[in-house]
Amino acid sequence: MTVLVTGGAGYIGSHTVLELLQAEQNVLVLDNFSNSSSESLKRVKELTNKTVTLIEGDIRDKALLETLFTQHSIDSVIHFAGLKAVGESTEIPLDYYENNVWGTINLLQVMKQFNVFKFVFSSSATVYGDPQTVPIKENFPLSATNPYGRSKLMVEDICRDLAASDSNWKIALLRYFNPVGAHESGRIGEDPNGIPNNLLPFIAQVAIGKREALAVFGDDYDTVDGTGVRDYIHVVDLANGHLKALAHLAKQNGCVAYSLGTGKGYSVLEMVKAFEKASDRPVPYKIVARRPGDIACCYADASFAKEVLSWTATRNLEQMMKDSWRWQSNNPEGYKK
Ligand code: NAD
Ligand code: UFG
Repeated sequence: MTVLVTGGAGYIGSHTVLELLQAEQNVLVLDNFSNSSSESLKRVKELTNKTVTLIEGDIRDKALLETLFTQHSIDSVIHFAGLKAVGESTEIPLDYYENNVWGTINLLQVMKQFNVFKFVFSSSATVYGDPQTVPIKENFPLSATNPYGRSKLMVEDICRDLAASDSNWKIALLRYFNPVGAHESGRIGEDPNGIPNNLLPFIAQVAIGKREALAVFGDDYDTVDGTGVRDYIHVVDLANGHLKALAHLAKQNGCVAYSLGTGKGYSVLEMVKAFEKASDRPVPYKIVARRPGDIACCYADASFAKEVLSWTATRNLEQMMKDSWRWQSNNPEGYKK
């Protein structure tokens, strides 16, 4: 039996493929390389000494999906493929809805056509909007403030409707908090295009001297030191959450959402300090205005995933930082030589 992994060449996908291969699963990856390259999976193969079939193509291509489901004995799908930049989504919303929403509908239609009902979806903590309290529980109200977030919420709603319409469906909506870090080998990691939007890759590029200073978006939030607080989770822990969710689907009924986080929040300045310690490099920063749309504080109540999936994050902040730095310093240009 084969797991189809869409977007498997990307940051979280490549780490998940590695864990799947180590767990002796057959893996088929579909990726259009719009935000990745085949190099990540070449390295995954080297690290695991296992093979993975990689198809260059798009989830919006129904004929291609039908061919893949005909040619391979796919019995479950982990769906990472999509666009993920919040700012960009406000500039090109149609691309976001086309890729993230229509692409997913296309995939679900072909799954149904081939009687494949096990589906693990990359959702995001962004669906909790600006929570009234923390830690955030799965039953908190859902909302979205930008097209990216709305595309995730729309897909969640579609999955809930689908599961309600047909009890064959078994769907895990995985709401990631803030994935950081890299595989401990330093061979695979996050390889952002251009100027990183996210905190950790930006800090890492400052530490290595590619960028002058980090702009800290606001120090007047109601948090420990005024800077934004987030629940950073090691990407390998997150990858393992997918394996647990997939294994649990056999016993699960319908569509269930799980928050995947550590349950701990760190501020931007705490992250800067921890990275300086792990890298032994200075990370100069300057305080600038708040970034529109940012919230003060966001961290998970991770107890539901622990109770139901027997999954819990095991890597601490120091490991996240050490692994990020190893990846950044061994691959200053990412996957480009
Ligand atoms: P990524 O960009 O590294 O990976 C996404 C992969 O999907 C890329 O390899 C890209 O080439 C591919 N892709 C995009 N559109 C495609 C299409 N139409 N057809 C085929 N392939 C396509 O991103 P990531 O950080 O690994 O995120 C994976 C998923 O997790 C995304 O759905 C993202 O929205 C979600 N997510 C990410 C974060 C985060 O902070 N990284 C947080 C919450 C949720
Ligand atoms: N930050 C800075 N400077 C930067 C980048 C970020 O100060 O250059 C701050 C932000 O203001 C925030 C924290 O660092 O307080 C984290 O910001 P990120 O952009 O790394 O992450 P977000 O929490 O804003 O968003 C991320 C993903 C979203 C996802 C969300 C919830 O980018 O896609 O987590 O999962 F929806």
